[in-house]
Amino acid sequence: MNRKGIVLAGGSGTRLYPITLGVSKQLLPVYDKPMIYYPISTLMLAGIRDIVVITTPEDAAQFRRTLGDGTQWGLRFTFIEQPSPDGLAQAYLLARDFLDGAPSAMVLGDNIFYGANLPGMLAAVPADGGTVFGYHVADPERYGVLGFDADGTATQIIEKPKVPPSSYAVTGLYFLDGTAPDRAARVRPSDRGELEITTLLESYLAEGALRVERMGRGFAWLDTGTHASLLDAGNFVRTLTARQGLQSGCPDEIAFLKGWIDRDGLRARADLFAKNEYGAYLSRLLD
Ligand code: TTP
Repeated sequence: MNRKGIVLAGGSGTRLYPITLGVSKQLLPVYDKPMIYYPISTLMLAGIRDIVVITTPEDAAQFRRTLGDGTQWGLRFTFIEQPSPDGLAQAYLLARDFLDGAPSAMVLGDNIFYGANLPGMLAAVPADGGTVFGYHVADPERYGVLGFDADGTATQIIEKPKVPPSSYAVTGLYFLDGTAPDRAARVRPSDRGELEITTLLESYLAEGALRVERMGRGFAWLDTGTHASLLDAGNFVRTLTARQGLQSGCPDEIAFLKGWIDRDGLRARADLFAKNEYGAYLSRLLD
């Protein structure tokens, strides 16, 4: 069964107030593109074309306007509203019918992944069990943190620990098999009232069914939830783009390179953005 995609793009964005009083975090710019282009690109690089975008009810219309139905990228978008931000694991309950038993990859709408051979790494994820990615961070206490035994095997995941068992955070990219919705249904709300993804992942871990891949220092994993990290992410993309003359997190390019859209499709997008460098970049891809 083909793997399906989930982009979790709801949440309240309170750390970005007052910016996010009137607009979803995931629609804010990361340099030259809406933030949500980056996680969508990550799913596309994993070969996923059938994607559900989960948003707040208030922001749903803007997401539909920004993203359309997905045909511009050879994708199929489904939109689901999350009535209130009750936790990451709730996504699997909301997406149960959409998934219809299929394995999935879920990416958080404010997470950006960049690195050599990222596509190869994602394409290699097996369909069974669960796979998550551990990334060394300076501030693990802000995340779900991995604990390892002496052999380096992951044995625990602790949400926002005061004393982190390692410096490896679980990134916001979760490959889970078709049992995820059933497992999510057994997750009880945490003390902060959320259905925690950590609890869902623990159910895989307890059965020895969770693979933990380490993303080495050659990768960049950025989240964009604070004023400073949002600007950092924008500067990161700008630096890369200016130096390489290549886009990163560009769904138009990925769709074209994968053959999911043809030259006419790409040309229509280039024409739409004819007034800026993003459009010029798409035009150059046609040459
Ligand atoms: P967070 O950054 O943890 O939360 P938030 O986006 O609400 O922001 P803040 O902490 O500033 O209030 O969320 C991580 C990602 O998951 C983000 O892309 C929003 C999304 N999310 C949902 O879509 N639904 C949810 O119930 C939660 C908790 C998060």
